[in-house]
Amino acid sequence: MIATDKSGANLVSLFYALIKDLQVYDLNNDVVQNAAKRLMYYVNTLLNMYNHIELVRYMDYIFFNKQRLRFEIDGYASLQFIHDKLKTIGVKTLTFLPGIDKDEIIIFASVFKEEQDTFQKHFASGTFDHINIEFATEEDEIPDFLRDGEHIKRTYFRALKVTKNLLHNLWTNQAVDVKSSRRIVYNLINALSQDEIGLMALTAIKDFDEYTYNHSLNVAILSLALGQRLGLSKKALARLGTAGLLHDIGKVEIPKQLIYKPGKLTEEEWEIIKHHSDYGVTEILKTRGLDEIGLVSITVAYQHHWNFDGSGYPAHEEDQKPTLFARIVRICDSYDAMTTSRVYQPIPYLPHIVLRILWKHQNIFYDPVLVKAFIQLSGIYPVGSCLELTSGEVCLVIRQNQGHLARPFVKLVRDAQKKKTDGRMIDLSVEKHIKIVKAIYPQKFRVDVATYFV
Ligand SMILES: [Fe+2]
Ligand SMILES: [Fe+2]
Repeated sequence: MIATDKSGANLVSLFYALIKDLQVYDLNNDVVQNAAKRLMYYVNTLLNMYNHIELVRYMDYIFFNKQRLRFEIDGYASLQFIHDKLKTIGVKTLTFLPGIDKDEIIIFASVFKEEQDTFQKHFASGTFDHINIEFATEEDEIPDFLRDGEHIKRTYFRALKVTKNLLHNLWTNQAVDVKSSRRIVYNLINALSQDEIGLMALTAIKDFDEYTYNHSLNVAILSLALGQRLGLSKKALARLGTAGLLHDIGKVEIPKQLIYKPGKLTEEEWEIIKHHSDYGVTEILKTRGLDEIGLVSITVAYQHHWNFDGSGYPAHEEDQKPTLFARIVRICDSYDAMTTSRVYQPIPYLPHIVLRILWKHQNIFYDPVLVKAFIQLSGIYPVGSCLELTSGEVCLVIRQNQGHLARPFVKLVRDAQKKKTDGRMIDLSVEKHIKIVKAIYPQKFRVDVATYFV
């Protein structure tokens, strides 16, 4: 057996099967013994590959050896059960060590299904030599590998640097190797599988650089996150991410004074800007090392302003539909553009308003299925949204709650008197007495969103 993305999910579902059998049969029953044998075979195979097996619960997620397990239709019940169980018995980390055998795992599973008190008492009695437990504490909830999201930030800023070089080289007519973008995209895919929301949160930071660099990277990240939710393979994601990164590459052919022109564009100027879609094709064709990934990027660059209803530019027959990747980039492009302040849009739209705009234009501009998936991904109040609470306090959305899209994790940044505070994190799905009054512009109370994510 080779370790795959499914290893963790398979382990969880075998463990779940054993617990379920133990709820019906006693320890020595054949059904239980067989379920334990199947689980042990898998555990031993994994232990041969890794020197331990670690399941970490953090907020709404479970990580298997540092890889986040994805909630999918297949295996959803088992993952949800194990997650909820770990939460109720107060366990943060569960580790299986080499030497574990069938009897130990059966006894552990029978204790695991108990209530918190019984579980903790049994576990403390020390019958488990090859199973370690780390209990969750109030303050120390974040697993080491996610602490401060250092790794994710490094990936983001490295990717930003490469994006900048790539676009800059094109701008100054130097030869560009499209392969350099491939490495960024692979790193982003990896980072996403570890901490999707952490990486997406970084797309809320818009003011680091000129619009195009940040925008290109943000569109790549959002497209990858959406593609991952749709269950695309890694190979497909690599194509989609590159296409997202290069979608506006044709803008290097548009005079800079037009791109950065303050105020409204004239009809003629607008027509010139629209050409960035065809220029995108010629720019990508100019790059070295053109392969299939490059060819997909060409299609997306050409079609990313095509609408779902057949309208949009460059002109095309109404029944010519944009590809799936172009439809994904279309949504992520609009979202990032509308939430970013630009010369002709100094005050950006609030993220949740942009979601409403996307919703309103589904079937017209956007693929309705993708709009729904995008809202599911970003929550009702996307990460980085600034909210006013019934307590008068002001907070920032830090993470989504998978099961409660309208009640995210937030961090208090202003107290009830609107004075600056480095306040606590609140899980609004737990502290239900606190309600959201409305989303507000962070500028209203001079909240600098970026500083909370970097
Ligand atoms: Fe564009
Ligand atoms: Fe764009």
